[in-house]
Amino acid sequence: MKLIGPFKQIITLNNLPLKGKLSDESLEIIANGGILTENGKLLEVNDFDILKQKFPDSEIDFIDNEQIALPAFVDAHTHICFGGNRANDFAMRNAGRTYLQIAESGGGIWSSVKHTRAASEEDLVGGILERVNRLIKQGITTIEIKSGYGLNIDEELKMLRAIKKAQTQTKATLVPTCLSAHLKPRDFKGTSEEYLNYIVNEILPKVKEENLADRVDIFIEKSAFQPEESKNFLLKAKQLGFQITVHADQFTPGSSRIAVEVGAKSADHLEATFDEDIEFLANSNTVAIALPGASLGLGEPFSPARKILDGGGILAIASDWNPGSAPMGNLVTQAAILATYQKLTTAEVLSAITFRAAFALGLEDRGVLSEGKKADFITYETDNFQNILYQQGSLPPSQVYINGEKVL
Ligand code: NIG
Ligand code: FE
Repeated sequence: MKLIGPFKQIITLNNLPLKGKLSDESLEIIANGGILTENGKLLEVNDFDILKQKFPDSEIDFIDNEQIALPAFVDAHTHICFGGNRANDFAMRNAGRTYLQIAESGGGIWSSVKHTRAASEEDLVGGILERVNRLIKQGITTIEIKSGYGLNIDEELKMLRAIKKAQTQTKATLVPTCLSAHLKPRDFKGTSEEYLNYIVNEILPKVKEENLADRVDIFIEKSAFQPEESKNFLLKAKQLGFQITVHADQFTPGSSRIAVEVGAKSADHLEATFDEDIEFLANSNTVAIALPGASLGLGEPFSPARKILDGGGILAIASDWNPGSAPMGNLVTQAAILATYQKLTTAEVLSAITFRAAFALGLEDRGVLSEGKKADFITYETDNFQNILYQQGSLPPSQVYINGEKVL
């Protein structure tokens, strides 16, 4: 049993609804707080002196300078398993080149596919761990990672095996997702529908057999997969027992509706979502995941986070960290910027990168500081939690705990 504290403030995020808007007054803040952990879980979060009296035998980890604590963050959408770099795409886009011109000069998703295919599994593991360590420094201890730059059975399995191997070398939780339906690869002989069938018949059974992922994603977009074929694909993946998530409404609207209809855990992007589809999504238990990093990377509008919350929906915010559209990889900065443009309360932003994001991944054991939850939490050297978003990511956590153990 270990007691950590005293903290100037503990922001527990306890007792907040899963859905809808939140006022900052609804946040539970424990002054002079203590966190009691045992076997990787939270035993009690309460006044430090009360806990000290109640559990006199507990080992004490004293926090001497002024610090606050809150649940560790969850990044529910990344593509951090990749080879190569697309700095040239970014420069060309900003110099006014079109998507087509960038693709023709060797850029775009296909360029990441070529570099990822050329990388060994070990290279990929190294790249993942380097990026995971950067995320841990930002206080993120649960990280979803997609395949989707292999785009054939061997290369997709290589990516997913690399994620599985990386998991053995980090204390952070890595959540793998099969995104073989990112794009029909140029070297696939057949239609996009045939490629989707190939994923269902060849790739997904292997993913199951090797226990490489429980989740399946697809990019529904004019330039990728079309609504009808995508819906069939998702229903088949669901039948095979996979949880579903969708890259929806990034440039053209219509696909978040499909995500809701198939019972997806989340619909991610939503930069182009129709107002009536926002309402449809907000009335469901499909989490709307805003990806401000992609808006910032491409110069596109932000997702309608305010409308989703006002409509009663579940909002999460993720980084979408990838080599093309979202190269920054700094979730707190992005969430803080989204908050200024969309007018999100501190409670809404913190919930969107903790328990609401965890819900999108089917992980209801984390994201709040209450009894029985996973003891993943972070501390900041400040006397006021508002400083975290106020400093827009430039205030790093001073300590990061995973399963009650200090990892940073
Ligand atoms: O989430 N939208 C499609 N997929 C990624 C981009 C991947 C890439 O450009 O490499 C995204 O933005
Ligand atoms: Fe993405």
